[in-house]
Amino acid sequence: MPSLRIAFCCTGTEPEPWLAGLRAALPQAQVALWQPGAGRADYALVWAPPQQFFDEQPQLKGVFAIGAGVDALLKLRLPPNATVVRLDDAGMAVQMAEYVCHAVIRHFREFDVYEAETRQGHWTSHKPRKRADFPVGVMGLGVLGQRVARALSQFEFPVNGWSRSPKALDGVRSFSGPAQLDDFLAASRVLVNLLPLTLDTQGIMNLATLSRLRPGGYVINVARGAHLVDEDLLALLDSGQLAGATLDVFRVEPLPPDHPFWRQPKITITPHTAARTLRATSIAQIAGKIEALERGESVVGRVDRGRGY
Ligand code: NAP
Ligand code: GLV
Repeated sequence: MPSLRIAFCCTGTEPEPWLAGLRAALPQAQVALWQPGAGRADYALVWAPPQQFFDEQPQLKGVFAIGAGVDALLKLRLPPNATVVRLDDAGMAVQMAEYVCHAVIRHFREFDVYEAETRQGHWTSHKPRKRADFPVGVMGLGVLGQRVARALSQFEFPVNGWSRSPKALDGVRSFSGPAQLDDFLAASRVLVNLLPLTLDTQGIMNLATLSRLRPGGYVINVARGAHLVDEDLLALLDSGQLAGATLDVFRVEPLPPDHPFWRQPKITITPHTAARTLRATSIAQIAGKIEALERGESVVGRVDRGRGY
């Protein structure tokens, strides 16, 4: 591939290790950090790029997001003919399974309560709770949601899953489409969100939907902050209808210091860290896909712009 040109335009990412990794993976390509006015590229790796980047690069054949979610990217005016590709697992699924299993088990086994009690010097045993009373509903059964659902079912939690199209997964009761959302929620006590953020899914966790969870519901949001209506979660926690929440993603990140989530003890906060982009694995995946596209082959992880994910 003598004349292949690759531009790197990822805000908030140290470029040098990525550039070196891409040059090693695609030795015949010219790989460069994008600067305004730079020459034209064939492919781009992007994260939070400025609109100016795409305005200057209308000829791009392929745009590779170095993350799984493309909600912010799809808000930009993209080159009309570029294939948009997101990361397909690339080491994120196992991280997401760790994060969600940890949050579910911590809540189910009351490890948060034990931690607070033992810090006070209290040696107290709580009655064991039944897994059957903690069915977990996973919204979004894609690359990450399926891995999470499988991991939860290996811990013998009853697992429900909700997606756009029906799924047949061992150990997972599958619900699909808007018509089955209420039944899915009513069958779940812990709700895990792994949906992409689209026009159809924004604000999907609100007073009406979260009120349908089984009593003592628990919310784990690891997708995007705008899936959740913050005030509705706070109201349901204040009233005691929901038991708690673990939140990794927020409408504004970093979460502003005056946001009430910081002061609600039933909410556990992590700073958008549930599943990180792993550089070496991601470079290998993207380089392989650039080669495949150059050979005229199709690639997985291709984004359907109309669908929004
Ligand atoms: P994915 O493979 O595209 O899976 C998306 C799933 O959501 C699919 O099962 C899809 O249904 C379902 N879905 C989409 N729209 C729906 C709708 N309107 N109603 C019902 N189901 C719908 O995505 P992924 O790789 O698993 O990633 C999911 C999200 O995780 C990303 O978009 C990103 O926002 C988030 N994420 C967060 C972190 C973090 O660190 N917190 C890290 C990585 C990713 P079908 O299967 O029927 O298409
Ligand atoms: C992170 O949130 C991602 O979408 O990869």
